[in-house]
Amino acid sequence: MGKLWSGRFSENSSSLLDEFNASLNFDKKLYRYDILGSLAHAKMLYQQGILNEEEYRSIVDGMDQVLDEIEKGDFTFNISDEDIHMAIEKRLTDIIGDAGKKLHTARSRNDQVALDFRLYVQAHNEIIRELVLKLVNAFVFVARENTQTMLPGMTHLQHAQPINFGYHMMAYASMLKRDYERFESSFKRNNLSPIGCAALAGTPHPIDRNLTAKELGFDAPTLNCLDTVSDRDFALEMLFNIATMMMHISRLSEELILWSSSEFGFVTLSDAYSTGSSIMPQKKNPDVPELLRGKTGRTYGNLISLLTVMKGLPLAYNKDMQEDKEGTFDSVETVEISLTILTEVIKTMKVNKERMEEACKIGHLSATDLADYLVEKCGIPFREAHFITGRAVALAEQKGCDLSELSATDLKSIDNRIKDDVTDYLSIRHSMNARNSEGGTSTKRTLEQIEKIAEWITEK
Ligand code: ARG
Repeated sequence: MGKLWSGRFSENSSSLLDEFNASLNFDKKLYRYDILGSLAHAKMLYQQGILNEEEYRSIVDGMDQVLDEIEKGDFTFNISDEDIHMAIEKRLTDIIGDAGKKLHTARSRNDQVALDFRLYVQAHNEIIRELVLKLVNAFVFVARENTQTMLPGMTHLQHAQPINFGYHMMAYASMLKRDYERFESSFKRNNLSPIGCAALAGTPHPIDRNLTAKELGFDAPTLNCLDTVSDRDFALEMLFNIATMMMHISRLSEELILWSSSEFGFVTLSDAYSTGSSIMPQKKNPDVPELLRGKTGRTYGNLISLLTVMKGLPLAYNKDMQEDKEGTFDSVETVEISLTILTEVIKTMKVNKERMEEACKIGHLSATDLADYLVEKCGIPFREAHFITGRAVALAEQKGCDLSELSATDLKSIDNRIKDDVTDYLSIRHSMNARNSEGGTSTKRTLEQIEKIAEWITEK
């Protein structure tokens, strides 16, 4: 049999055209959704009296065989069938005969591909959200163990104020929660059924789009057929959500790479998730976070490329839109493996508490606390307190020690309004716990954040 659309043509298509035009090599990934969609469509056609019972039953049985053949690897994918939709329909017709030719009543590949692709995106939206929860859980696990583990919080990559490592982990948990919610809202917004829109304008057949929508797990049919067959926003949202989450993952990766360097030594990545060098026997490299950081780039590329494909297209379907799939599949596969491996890396990394606390003795992290002390306990205006603290830092530098290591006598020599209790205020742990405002780094507030996120996870 020739092409399904060959009626008006008098010459066979060139094999070069077949190769250039086909999407079968990549859209065969959609086979399960294509079959699901066809079964729902056939059921609706039967319920509406467009197919008789015998035709409907033979479509169901035939599709069962097609699915089985594909899953067992017995299905012959032939590039001249162009795409998964025609490959499956053609095979169905080979198996069941004329009833197969009726399946495409009130349907076009335009609404069919919009359906299959949307089902794929929605299914992976759910898979990705599950994986995000697992990663957030890993952050919560590490955070619980480390609400007392001090490390220098940074701005400009310079030591700024002491924080605890649990708090740092919870910053990533908060980002990932936001990512989760972005996927969740995209899922809800896009959970509408495209099938039954036909080519662009609807169909004269007495179909019921509510039946197919319900059968396929959608909330309702889409509103406007012209928009529906032209719309790839659901895929763009997926690509944006992935790119944004990968940006977060990339920032964490950068920190893991820094932290596992000998200069920092804050964490040791597990051997199971590190690699060696082919020449330098001593090397242990953080390839996983490096690849996560690197793969973030391609997820941005996939987003930009689909935005660009779509920007000039007149309504409705244009073949350009066939370019929507490969980048989306790539981003989805990239983010799924990235989330999976990152969760393991976080769960298995060793947190080097001593190294982190040692680093807190560099950079006069409690300078803001001294200024606050001067304001609160000595009634000194903040600007003056800032200056006096600057002098104290200069003294510490001169003595080659950290501000927190100066004695009360040293400090009193700078300003005689300073009292003996000053040293309590300069300890790094005091400084961390003093930041006890809502959302702050104190152990108490960190635990509060952990509980909130843990509760959110159990609600999901
Ligand atoms: N393979 C096509 C795609 O992925 C399916 C839709 C084709 N529709 C058409 N009218 N040529 O976009």
